[in-house]
Amino acid sequence: MQKVIFTALLLSHALSAASDHIRIFYSANRQGEIEPCGCKTNQIGGLNRMAEKIMAASKSGDYLIVDSGDTFFSTPKLNENRKAQELLRARLIAKSYRQMGVAFTTPGDRDLAGGAAYYSELLAESGASAVSANWVAKDSTLRLSPYQIWSRDGLKILVTGLSAAEGVSPAIAEMVEPRRAMEGVLSVAKKEAVDFVLVLSHLGKETDEKLAEQFPGLFVFGAHSMDSLSEPIAIGNSFVLQPGTEGQQLGELQLEKGKTGFLEHALHDLSKNFDQPNAVKSLMQEYYASLKQVGLQDSADLLPGKSSYVANPFVCKNCHQKQFDFWASTKHSSAFLVLYAKKQHYDPQCIGCHSLGFNVPEGFSQLSSAILLSPQKKKGFAEKLLEKTFSGDREGALDSSENPARYRRLHERYWKEVRKLLGNAPNAKNFLGVQCEHCHQSRANHVQNQSRGASGVSLESCQQCHRPPNASPLDPKSLVVVACPKMGQLNKEKP
Ligand code: HEC
Ligand code: HEC
Ligand code: HEC
Ligand code: HEC
Repeated sequence: MQKVIFTALLLSHALSAASDHIRIFYSANRQGEIEPCGCKTNQIGGLNRMAEKIMAASKSGDYLIVDSGDTFFSTPKLNENRKAQELLRARLIAKSYRQMGVAFTTPGDRDLAGGAAYYSELLAESGASAVSANWVAKDSTLRLSPYQIWSRDGLKILVTGLSAAEGVSPAIAEMVEPRRAMEGVLSVAKKEAVDFVLVLSHLGKETDEKLAEQFPGLFVFGAHSMDSLSEPIAIGNSFVLQPGTEGQQLGELQLEKGKTGFLEHALHDLSKNFDQPNAVKSLMQEYYASLKQVGLQDSADLLPGKSSYVANPFVCKNCHQKQFDFWASTKHSSAFLVLYAKKQHYDPQCIGCHSLGFNVPEGFSQLSSAILLSPQKKKGFAEKLLEKTFSGDREGALDSSENPARYRRLHERYWKEVRKLLGNAPNAKNFLGVQCEHCHQSRANHVQNQSRGASGVSLESCQQCHRPPNASPLDPKSLVVVACPKMGQLNKEKP
């Protein structure tokens, strides 16, 4: 009996929800991130998870999705080496936002990294409108409106934006003082008798708080200052909100017509509970496949001519068998496997810490040249080696702590293939994985002249990879865990 009453209550709630209630989903500070790297377990975030959360919620009532900028790129200026990939990634974000139905955004200082025209293309692709009350566009390709009015079922919401305060070239936009910009917009809000005013602000929490103090009744969805606010900050009857960075969280705010304040608020961690196959996940897979095309095309050859890396542990093995055997048993030696398993082995965001010498002149720039059998015979071996290693394995992302048996199996197969291909190739180079020369510096001269190099392996050499945001800071004690066996008395024993 009780159960029936409960259902009836829910139903009447859902009916009234259709007109008076609205949920605002908000994100900000994505910084070009599409999903967590997987370097640590239980990382949060991911475009596919955001889509899943929104789809689940969309079944119950109206909602509006807003994003307060720094959405498309990781930096205000693109790294030339990675430009092609960054532009593609921004497109993926735009397409995913269209799938989700993101309605409004405002430009952050990183959004114009691809130029004003590219930003407008991204907006068109995403279906979102950029609102900005404090930017007056000078570049004719930049599409902005000072505010927009969104209405449905008698509910009227004005959405405006306050865009980035720094790093905007005067050729692109002229800045109006935020307070003055808001006065103009609020006079419209009054005339139009809107129910709510939402401000997408890229000015940072401090400025947002001042605005909330100056103007009553605002919902300020902030960004830029990297504050993850688990609860909205109430200032009078205005509120300041901000979710976590890098797409890790999605905020949800419920409003009701005629009521000041809000009904409910939640800041959702986008955890693996939201991992379901969905349309955005498919877009992400397409993106990874397209990275492979870019990786193969991009032939700005930084090929290792006079390499200062030996990049061949089999050479070291001749004199350091014990150390070689130890290293070959560690996950460092097979650290490229996890990228291949996620189909991210062409992703320049990942390769650097899972291999040696990526994008430096003495290393490699394309995966196809990450293994060179000899200086003459160039390409194609890395992909083949990994294909063979993974043949028959259909399990997707590889996490050694979740599935240690599978990792061990792949590690062993990898080493079988590596020995076959490289075991007797003294002139070959193999840049995959964490190598001897990551920890022991370049050894090009040492092989000819075995004088001691700088003694001791420093913790700093580890921290080039073991660092946030990808990995946790390293416990200094773990130096012991990876330390190769001692050479022993050199004059009595072969090293
Ligand atoms: C800043 C360096 C760095 C970058 C960049 C990086 N990783 Fe990692 N990754 C690490 C380190 C260090 C570990 C080991 C962490 C540990 O064991 O504490 C790791 C571990 C992993 C693991 C878990 C390995 C296991 O055995 O379970 C996966 C999966 C992974 N990375 C994938 C990626 C992907 C995909 C990318 C690109 C999106 C990436 N990494 C970018 C440093 C990096
Ligand atoms: C031809 C034999 C030979 C080869 C090949 C060789 N080493 Fe050595 N290595 C030695 C000898 C001998 C010593 C001891 C030198 C000393 O104590 O003065 C040594 C010492 C070392 C040490 C400890 C002292 C130091 O310099 O830090 C490291 C680390 C090392 N080698 C790494 C490597 C690596 C990495 C490679 C492959 C790129 C390599 N070695 C290749 C013979 C070799
Ligand atoms: C993740 C880092 C790491 C990697 C990779 C690594 N080593 Fe080591 N290695 C160490 C540490 C730590 C020690 C302990 C001695 C020290 O602190 O210098 C050590 C010790 C050694 C020593 C003995 C030094 C001595 O004083 O007796 C040799 C030789 C050596 N490594 C060679 C190699 C070779 C060859 C490879 C690749 C096949 C390799 N190492 C890969 C970290 C590493
Ligand atoms: C070039 C980047 C890089 C460097 C340098 C590096 N690591 Fe790692 N480390 C990784 C990656 C990537 C993994 C994960 C490999 C995997 O699971 O496939 C890892 C894994 C580990 C693990 C877990 C290994 C296991 O077998 O369980 C430890 C411990 C570790 N690293 C310690 C160190 C220490 C200590 C140093 C410095 C002496 C160091 N690492 C240097 C990238 C690096």
